[in-house]
Amino acid sequence: MNFDEIIERRNTNSMKWDHLKAVYQDADLWPMWVADMDFRAPESVLNALDDVTRHGIFGYHHPPHSLRIAIQDWTSRRFGWDVQPENMTFTPGVVPAIHHLINVYSNEGDGIIIQTPVYHPFFALLRSNQRALLENRLLQREDGKYDIDFDDLESQMKKGAKILILCSPHNPVGRVWSESELSKIAELCARYEVTVISDEIHADLVLQGNHTPFAKLEAAKDLQVATCMAPSKTFNLAALQLSYVIFNDKDMQKKFEQQMKQNFMGIGNPYSSAAAEAAYRHGEAWLEALLTYIQGNVDYVQERLQQEMPSIHAAKPEATYLMWLDFRELELTQDDLQNWLRNEGRIALNDGHTFGKAGSGFARMNVAAPREHVVEGMNRLKTAYDKMKNI
Ligand SMILES: Cc1ncc(COP(=O)(O)O)c(C=O)c1O
Repeated sequence: MNFDEIIERRNTNSMKWDHLKAVYQDADLWPMWVADMDFRAPESVLNALDDVTRHGIFGYHHPPHSLRIAIQDWTSRRFGWDVQPENMTFTPGVVPAIHHLINVYSNEGDGIIIQTPVYHPFFALLRSNQRALLENRLLQREDGKYDIDFDDLESQMKKGAKILILCSPHNPVGRVWSESELSKIAELCARYEVTVISDEIHADLVLQGNHTPFAKLEAAKDLQVATCMAPSKTFNLAALQLSYVIFNDKDMQKKFEQQMKQNFMGIGNPYSSAAAEAAYRHGEAWLEALLTYIQGNVDYVQERLQQEMPSIHAAKPEATYLMWLDFRELELTQDDLQNWLRNEGRIALNDGHTFGKAGSGFARMNVAAPREHVVEGMNRLKTAYDKMKNI
């Protein structure tokens, strides 16, 4: 594994590299947006995919039991969480899974809590399902990190919330919620009978601390919890579209599977199953090396900001390869900030505003790329910064 290797992604139909014009109206920006990585997947995954290709038959597929066992081993080894193979349901992505979970656990008009600023499709999921948005804004500390506003969370629950969509670890603020924070959430959910959809897609990408699966908590054992996980972020397999939901309630799982069937949702393909199983069985050393590399990129970005661009701030993420950059000291409107990043910085970052109003003045930077790419992005940002400050 050589994370410094530059692998050309232009002209490969990559969302991050080849879809810039459609989103930013400019194809030449330096892409640090879409949450995937510019690294090749582990060798074991590539070999498993080669085997599928060489077999050469791509008929209807059913994910094998051995994949369930590989997931069971992984969650047990990585998180000390014992899950049963039959409690997992495969889905073609976490976002589609959440869409169907919302439909199983709630009705039109019901309130759903999300903790903002947060992964932007959560808003779209509520909108397209005509659910009422109950916004629990996270509180930013002096050091730039975020905490949960528990008083507000409780008041959102009092409004009759049916579901809390937890983002754990949290995208974009990078928090790894502690066991005590999660237990406090669980106690409130128990008191107000709120079901939890726990999006744990970033669970493997922890840089500091340990990830605690919400459903593993003692305080969550009487709650309805659907845990969404995937190898997609961890091993850079997003395009293979495999994820899974772990249920702690058999009836809910049954309803969910019925809902999937009624909506003609597919059950996967031999590439995604083979890649996921190889990654979970043989990808752990690769993952550890990846995390060290990402931490190096995070440190690099933070150091350059502190030394060369002191008006831009970023707390180190405890998890994910996404950095939440705070530009508020530049005193630009959100539109001006986006225009400045594009026109002067020539970089594509995710607009903070799409993560909710609480994201105004922020932008999200993806650092899962060879160091040279991150250096290029930071050089561009520095050029724009110096020009603005007349340095
Ligand atoms: C919190 C979170 N959930 C879900 C997803 C996307 O999941 P999928 O591609 O499996 O739909 C992302 C991708 O960035 C994410 O950050």
